[in-house]
Amino acid sequence: MRYGRDGIRAVALALMLLLGGCGHASETAPDNTTYPLEKLQDPETCKDCHPKHYQEWSGSMHAYASDDPLFLALNKRGQEQAQIGDFCVKCHAPMAVATHQTSDGLNLAELPKQLHGVTCFFCHQVDGVLGTHDNPLHLANDGVMRGQYSDPVKNKAHNSAYSELHDDVRLQSSAMCGSCHDIVNTKGAHLERTFSEWQDSVFNQEVGGTSCNACHMRTRHNELAAEGADAPGVFLRKLVHEHSFPGVDVALTAWPETDAQQEAVTKFLDTSLRLAVCVQDVIGSSAIWVITDTIGVGHNFPSGASQDRRVWFEVTAYDSADAVVYKSGAVPPGTEPTTLQDPDFWLFRDCTLDADGKEVHDFWNPATIDAVSAPAPGSYLPLDPRTYRSHITRRFPQDAGVPVSPARVTVQVWLQAFPLDVFDDLFANDPAAAAMRAKLAPVKVIEQTWRANDPTNERLFQNPLRDQAGLPMTCASDRMLQAGATNVRSPKHQACSP
Ligand code: HEC
Ligand code: HEC
Ligand code: HEC
Ligand code: HEC
Ligand code: HEC
Repeated sequence: MRYGRDGIRAVALALMLLLGGCGHASETAPDNTTYPLEKLQDPETCKDCHPKHYQEWSGSMHAYASDDPLFLALNKRGQEQAQIGDFCVKCHAPMAVATHQTSDGLNLAELPKQLHGVTCFFCHQVDGVLGTHDNPLHLANDGVMRGQYSDPVKNKAHNSAYSELHDDVRLQSSAMCGSCHDIVNTKGAHLERTFSEWQDSVFNQEVGGTSCNACHMRTRHNELAAEGADAPGVFLRKLVHEHSFPGVDVALTAWPETDAQQEAVTKFLDTSLRLAVCVQDVIGSSAIWVITDTIGVGHNFPSGASQDRRVWFEVTAYDSADAVVYKSGAVPPGTEPTTLQDPDFWLFRDCTLDADGKEVHDFWNPATIDAVSAPAPGSYLPLDPRTYRSHITRRFPQDAGVPVSPARVTVQVWLQAFPLDVFDDLFANDPAAAAMRAKLAPVKVIEQTWRANDPTNERLFQNPLRDQAGLPMTCASDRMLQAGATNVRSPKHQACSP
């Protein structure tokens, strides 16, 4: 097992807990006047005094994790095909496993709601991180709720304590989230790598670093962290944290807070990319260069379930009469992007392969991964090439030119959360399939238009691409993307296509 700096600290903490019986997180000795553990395991209990936290969490993918029909269908298939036991459910409904109510997640429908999903109790009872992947989190089970306040007001429900594993200004808090957001399957394939990608990025730096929470839990200022008649003596806190955990996914079935969650996801995705569209106008053989940069992403884009994500670039060039003279990435609505016949198709996703290099889908089959995604920067130092690795570029068309000088070029970046072919296979006979499938329609992450003779186009007298002869090009970018910076060509899939 591999431990980063955070991991080593976490192991030290775990040892302290084992040897000393109490770690730094349990400063408040549990007293017997607080609620029993069974009561604290129920998020409904927390709702009494933390109604906003409850409301936001209830719409989050953490609450949905074991009601998600994709999860239920894939877990069922995993049990049938590979007897995967509690491998999936220990992350998607960790309290159902911790309380020994399930060993495979097949009986979730019969279990009380409080054991579904990633619950308040689970996260706030973590007092140690014993590894880097597959949920190695240790629970104190002492009813002391860990958080970022070192001066919590006493309350009748639970004791409280400061914990650096929960504090967004401490990088080790990323180990709490990250070790559940990194999956290695039984064949050793590193299927989800959000934590390791973050560890390898500029965000994992003592100075100027950024934890998972710092991006995924937006802060609100001067609010109460607990409220109501049962929470006397509280005062306005400088910071409280939103619990909707926006990322990419939204619930596919009827679920609380869907509109709020959709809005949070849309806003959040809007912070993720920069885009520049450049045109190299060569009479009879023009080229379009698309440059993207993961400005606001603390790991690769896409990350996590990258075997399911489809992120692609739709490029359309028009002549002065507004007729289309070039097109790539135009995926017909409702069709699976990987079936598109397009030699220039620029697609980010993970291809998952078995030991013989054959493409396979389900979690338990892959032995290796062929990943194409945009990484986060690896450094801030101007001379370090890892500084520019997030700045990747692609030429359209790949091997030829556009015969007509474009007057306008539009680039749209689309994200689809789940492969439609896999979906159709899983839900072939389900009457609810059409409604769920509609919710998987791609969302637009960002769009950029280049117009010929636009005075705001940045003129680059030196071709930004090092391996090309220095022909001038003009670039449009609304988000100040430094098109001229050193950049990296987008890799192509080696083992699968596109
Ligand atoms: C180490 C913890 C962990 C394990 C083990 C795990 N998951 Fe997940 N799963 C996650 C996380 C974290 C995400 C969110 C990733 C993301 O959004 O990119 C996720 C997302 C998903 C999704 C939603 C993906 C989508 O495209 O919308 C499905 C479905 C899923 N998991 C099914 C499974 C199944 C089936 C298994 C077992 C074969 C499994 N998971 C094992 C943590 C885990
Ligand atoms: C009877 C009211 C009440 C209930 C029920 C309750 N809490 Fe609290 N909780 C409080 C009060 C009061 C605070 C202190 C807020 C402050 O100091 O600003 C608090 C603080 C916290 C903190 C911050 C601790 C720290 O030191 O940073 C966490 C985390 C927390 N509660 C989680 C929970 C969870 C999870 C539940 C459900 C299992 C829950 N609470 C149920 C009243 C309650
Ligand atoms: C017990 C394991 C576990 C822990 C701990 C955990 N997560 Fe998750 N997280 C999941 C699972 C499972 C999902 C996906 C649920 C689904 O889509 O079915 C998820 C989903 C998410 C998503 C939504 C992803 C998407 O694609 O929409 C975000 C963002 C997220 N988690 C961030 C965090 C952060 C930040 C922390 C730490 C404060 C954290 N998680 C801690 C298991 C965990
Ligand atoms: C995925 C893990 C996770 C889940 C699930 C979760 N929390 Fe939290 N919560 C955190 C983290 C991490 C913090 C501290 C954020 C920080 O300081 O950066 C926090 C902070 C808090 C605080 C302190 C005040 C604040 O806003 O910072 C309260 C109270 C709280 N959570 C209550 C709840 C309740 C109630 C639920 C369920 C309805 C819940 N949490 C579910 C991770 C989680
Ligand atoms: C600098 C801000 C930032 C940091 C730090 C960060 N994220 Fe993210 N995260 C984002 C943005 C923006 C997105 C949406 C774009 C994307 O999907 O990658 C995202 C997406 C995600 C997703 C959904 C990914 C997908 O494509 O399915 C998960 C899960 C997630 N983050 C978890 C984490 C975890 C766990 C950590 C810490 C190890 C973390 N994030 C650190 C900004 C951040």
